[in-house]
Amino acid sequence: MTPGVPVAFCGTFRLMRLTILGGGGFRVPLVHRALLAEARLGSPGRCTELVLYDTDPERLRVVASVLAAQAEGVPGAPAVRIADGLDDALRGADFVFSAIRVGGTAGRVRDERIPLGEGLLGQETVGAGGVLYALRTVPVALHIAERVRAVAPEAWVINFTNPAGIVTEAMARVLGERVIGICDSPVGLVRRAARAAGADPDTVRFDYTGLNHLGWLSSLRGPGGEELLPGLLADTEALTSFEEGKLFGATWLRALGVLPNEYLHYYYFRRETLAAVRQADETRGEFLDRQQGGFFGAAAGRDAGEAYALWERTRREREETYMAESREATGGWQRESCDLDGGGYDQVALALMRAIARGERTRLVLNVPGRGTVAALPGDAIVETVCEVDGSGPRPLPVAQPGPAELGLMLQLKAVEQAAVDAAVSGSRRAALRALGLHPLVDSPAVAERVLERAGA
Ligand code: G6P
Ligand code: MN
Repeated sequence: MTPGVPVAFCGTFRLMRLTILGGGGFRVPLVHRALLAEARLGSPGRCTELVLYDTDPERLRVVASVLAAQAEGVPGAPAVRIADGLDDALRGADFVFSAIRVGGTAGRVRDERIPLGEGLLGQETVGAGGVLYALRTVPVALHIAERVRAVAPEAWVINFTNPAGIVTEAMARVLGERVIGICDSPVGLVRRAARAAGADPDTVRFDYTGLNHLGWLSSLRGPGGEELLPGLLADTEALTSFEEGKLFGATWLRALGVLPNEYLHYYYFRRETLAAVRQADETRGEFLDRQQGGFFGAAAGRDAGEAYALWERTRREREETYMAESREATGGWQRESCDLDGGGYDQVALALMRAIARGERTRLVLNVPGRGTVAALPGDAIVETVCEVDGSGPRPLPVAQPGPAELGLMLQLKAVEQAAVDAAVSGSRRAALRALGLHPLVDSPAVAERVLERAGA
């Protein structure tokens, strides 16, 4: 594919191939569902072939049967193929979704339990757990990036793999701007805030900048360019009608003056979130290990229709229980349907793919090299920021500079991220200790050393 030329218009109409690494992942049917919606519409440049690759053949079989049930009766549904190996999966791909979980949910449980055993937060992407997850994942992500460069240098890689900021930072060292990291939490925040401010989420303009799972919405503008954030911050009822407002509380949000990503709850309310996570009978990873393990075990013996129904039930339960400890720490409220409105990873990924493949200009919050967006960071450092995307890829838009408190956290976390990448690349124990010991949620380098030892990192 020539950069800047939409896939569908390269010569005559041609097929579009999407490869998913981590094709046996539980959320793959959501991506497939979004592809089916495009097939129903007969959209030009839509995906015609879906290639799945996974290291776990059993899970692949289950996911493939869920996809088969889901595609039944949909004309133009993409052909699904299971790849023989990584290179086979990558060759000929226009887009590669990298959505792997190195170490599986068992690894996630260790990333939570080891820090918790030392009195630190145990969480998948934040704090010591996120650093441990990065140390394990980056070498695999780099291998993938190298194989993409070798066999599919024209492909766009959309990285879903967590911790998405660090993994994208590492892959960009190999692939440059051909890798784009995504997350569903920023768009979720924007849409929820817009609705609470009485605006149409599809038409607002906004400034959102930070790092992955560490960003802030600092401006929200209506169709006439009017600033909506001060009014929203002043209106307690509207402000506490949605997820982030309930998590952080009106008083703190007014003191802060910006709307933080939900993951900042682990930083601003570190005492409460740590206590809630420590008190819970099981960690999120343990819950998912049980829930997902149950699903894959039960679905393996069922026909496609039953597997699909079981998947749908399991998915709903997973969404409803998301960030349960944080909600427990703030009064035990339930997620509402509007809190799920971000659309999830699948929607962000599909919107991005559509914009590139069809050259349709759109705005998305993405993890890309900042190129001066945040003046204090080097241009090639990955930031999560508002981008304009078209056939030539994403370009960060100028946004308001983060305030000193936000910038301070970003710089500290960027040092952590870069140390984690260096540690994973070189195997340097010092770099790993730097990554862990510099994390604002790790309160002692001596503890950091013990955590590294226990993790065998
Ligand atoms: C959000 C985050 C993702 C994360 C997911 C965890 O969508 O943006 O980065 O992977 O939550 O959900 P889970 O059900 O795995 O706890
Ligand atoms: Mn995310």
